[in-house]
Amino acid sequence: MIIVSAASGALGGLVIDRLLTRLPAAEVVAAVRDPSGAPQLAARGVTLRRGDYDDADSLRTAFAGADRLLLISSPELDPERRTRHHLTAVDAARAAGVGSVVYTSFLGSDAPRPGVPDAHHATEQALHDSGLPRTVLRHPFYSEAYLDAPLLRAAVAAGELIDGTGGRGLNTALRADLAEAAAVVLTEEGHLGRAYDFTGEPWTLPELALTLSRVSGTPVARVERDEPAPGPRGWLDGLVRSGALERRTGDLRAVLGRPATGLEEAVTRALGAAS
Ligand SMILES: NC(=O)c1ccc[n+]([C@@H]2O[C@H](COP(=O)([O-])OP(=O)(O)OC[C@H]3O[C@@H](n4cnc5c(N)ncnc54)[C@H](OP(=O)(O)O)[C@@H]3O)[C@@H](O)[C@H]2O)c1
Repeated sequence: MIIVSAASGALGGLVIDRLLTRLPAAEVVAAVRDPSGAPQLAARGVTLRRGDYDDADSLRTAFAGADRLLLISSPELDPERRTRHHLTAVDAARAAGVGSVVYTSFLGSDAPRPGVPDAHHATEQALHDSGLPRTVLRHPFYSEAYLDAPLLRAAVAAGELIDGTGGRGLNTALRADLAEAAAVVLTEEGHLGRAYDFTGEPWTLPELALTLSRVSGTPVARVERDEPAPGPRGWLDGLVRSGALERRTGDLRAVLGRPATGLEEAVTRALGAAS
């Protein structure tokens, strides 16, 4: 039996979809904070269990009987609270006697570093110390931060794509590719004890403007912005601008057994998606 935690989120739903192409629904359990709030998962025929990262007892019950557990990281932004969520889940996994854990970590979390890797590194360490058989999937930033359908439609409508990245490379990946990679690791052999650095095919915003023009049939000009945009997007633009997202690995391609989804296909899908 495979159990997916935080399964009601965007990544969790995609992982459940990919698992159901490989396994009968009876072998898949979705652990969610509030089962009554996840009718979309119940409709897929999987078993729902209550598993709240703030409630250790619920996690021990939710994880019981798992041959493999996918521990999807908490969306909590406060590093201490996030670390507590993850360590509670690792303790519960050990107490429940799960066969192995697959954890969605973040690039760069192999060492203690401030920022996003902080809680992920602590969790990787806790998993190591737990002695549980495990696989670590270090995710890049999700491509949807830039390729979300409403953002792309707005750029096409305006005929402009604002670029605060300095045109530098992005090694992001789509949730759908990361979900498929998780399903591969959860259902196939040979991944225990491994830590994968997942990055997609590198791309840039200038390429995105060209791709948007081609796919939509409407000219979309790239407009360079020197000032950071307000909020999280500006923070991410700054990271890209520093060249921090230009590192690339072949791990995602190797686990998927195919290249990650390219820009043309991602844009075509996003523009074609129902609004
Ligand atoms: N690499 C990136 O660029 C990136 C970007 C965003 C997030 N992330 C990380 O990747 C994870 C998955 O991303 P996503 O897009 O699927 O996020 P998402 O759509 O926001 O889903 C987050 C999930 O966490 C669940 N959750 C929140 N608090 C919980 C708790 N106390 N106990 C158990 N579950 C709880 C939510 O459940 P409810 O339905 O009950 O709210 C939801 O299922 C995120 O949680 C975050 O750690 C990475």
